[in-house]
Amino acid sequence: MPKIHTFDAVIVGAGGAGLMAALYASRSANVAVLSKLYPTRSHTGAAQGGIGAALANMEEDSWEWHSYDTVKGSDYLADQDAVDVLTKEAINTVVELEHMGLPFDRFPNGKISQRRFGGHTNKDTGKPVMRACHAADRTGHMILQTLYQQCIKNEVNFFDEFHVVDLIRVDDTVRGVVAIEIATGEFHIFHSKAVMFATGGWGRVWEVTSNAHSLTGDGPAIALRRGIPLQDMEFFQFHPTGIYKLGILITEGVRGEGGVLINSEGERFMAKEEYAPNIKDLASRDVVSRAIYLEVKAGRGINGQKYVHLDVTPETVNHYYELDGEDRRIDREYIEAKLPDIADFTRTYLGVDPVKEPMPVQPTAHYGMGGIPTDVNGRVLLDAQKTVLPGFYAAGEVACVSVHGANRLGTNSLTDLVVFGKLAGVDMAEYCQNAELLPLPDGAADEVMAEFERIRNNTGGVKAHEVRRKMQESMTENVSVFRTKETMDKAIADLKELREAYQKVSIEDKGKVFNSDLLEAWELGCLLDTAEVTAVSGLARPESRGAHARDDYTERDDENWLKHTLYHKEGDGYRLDYKEVTLGRYEPKPRVY
Ligand code: FUM
Repeated sequence: MPKIHTFDAVIVGAGGAGLMAALYASRSANVAVLSKLYPTRSHTGAAQGGIGAALANMEEDSWEWHSYDTVKGSDYLADQDAVDVLTKEAINTVVELEHMGLPFDRFPNGKISQRRFGGHTNKDTGKPVMRACHAADRTGHMILQTLYQQCIKNEVNFFDEFHVVDLIRVDDTVRGVVAIEIATGEFHIFHSKAVMFATGGWGRVWEVTSNAHSLTGDGPAIALRRGIPLQDMEFFQFHPTGIYKLGILITEGVRGEGGVLINSEGERFMAKEEYAPNIKDLASRDVVSRAIYLEVKAGRGINGQKYVHLDVTPETVNHYYELDGEDRRIDREYIEAKLPDIADFTRTYLGVDPVKEPMPVQPTAHYGMGGIPTDVNGRVLLDAQKTVLPGFYAAGEVACVSVHGANRLGTNSLTDLVVFGKLAGVDMAEYCQNAELLPLPDGAADEVMAEFERIRNNTGGVKAHEVRRKMQESMTENVSVFRTKETMDKAIADLKELREAYQKVSIEDKGKVFNSDLLEAWELGCLLDTAEVTAVSGLARPESRGAHARDDYTERDDENWLKHTLYHKEGDGYRLDYKEVTLGRYEPKPRVY
């Protein structure tokens, strides 16, 4: 029998959104945070270049410009009321993080340092603006450490290495979650009035990704299985600069500090008329990723391979900074101070010193714009009419508020985590004050325990890692930077076969203690679910918008497709529905960079 724990609220995931929510909710509610990792290993720690907030510490900026860039970057699919909340709240929230002790870099005038980033512009001139507040290139790491320290100080209850595998939903109420304690293999039920998912993304669906091994789409898959739709899953962002073959992120901050992309002919190709002649290397991510893909396809990858160069060497980069009142050309000292992690990564993984040589980069699967639909207070929405599922919350990458629309603006993921994590935490605390603890249904953990027993005892002989590799190959080949009907049909057919193979997956380790074999096999089921939703939602959208770029429908179609996708699981099948986009000050128009 599972051990039962009772709390007012249970938060699943200990990244930026989960910790921010915990901090706020725990002011009045008894909160538990469950993570399948040790909290400070959460993927927020991998975010490098900065958190977007229009502090205007070095030059003119405003939250309205930040909203404009977010909406334009989203290819007009973001809900503009939610975007305004994000960009306005960002300013106070960054200052709040500073007051919690986050060690931001500083300008010589003592204010938080800000750097340029893709798609961040002065709306009047269209020129790049410094909006990314950063702690060297370890901004996410610093946010995670700061919030974790604050949570410990505030006596939040942590259950580290507890892997959540089910949501307990009874009709239109949620009553807790089921988790496995990784160290013992024992099942636990966390009985609560409210549950929040802050479980992150699902980049492991693809072969080359910046995402940690833990990002297997558990949150969206569990929600889907419990009757909650997933929104806008066809929009998955490829970050232009992952380390070639490995996918590890090389921050856009490199280009913010003056770095440029170069093809095999030595051209700074982003300046070409067909790409982004005005803003060049600092165009939105979808635009830059497509440009790299097209350069490689045209045979201009370096050494004929599938990568280009990212060059921040002082010989190439004409970028100046101020030191002791003097302007100095970018040099080793500056690169080591502002980009220490990427310098370390490229030396360690590639033997490349970025001060002396360019870095080989390729687009890497980075961020899901879609996810569990929510309102700005993190409340989960069940349908196109925005019906709330009381007591269920989501925030961070797993949620779709929607502020990122079809393509997220760089640095807005960290902003999203802390802004909507906080608003969800506040709302959840208030909810817990008024809600009663409803009884657990009989056998609340039975279904998922049976699924684990099925996997443990399966003798089908199929290896989980083989199914995973085939899924990643198919998604990379067919549902990547560019797609067509033909490729998405192929992916859906492949996934059908892989799903059948999944039923025959058997594992070697039959034990209970730290059984990663078993848990990874279960995670594979979540990856297959999220992959399928991505491909099916993409196939149904015959247009190109943001990260959903189709070779067979190359134009954006606002007349018919300015709407959000909702994918509902129904039995063994599915139903697609669509929801209005909330427009505002910014009317959809063609994106020009
Ligand atoms: O390039 C980066 O540092 C990534 C930032 C982000 O995804 O927002």
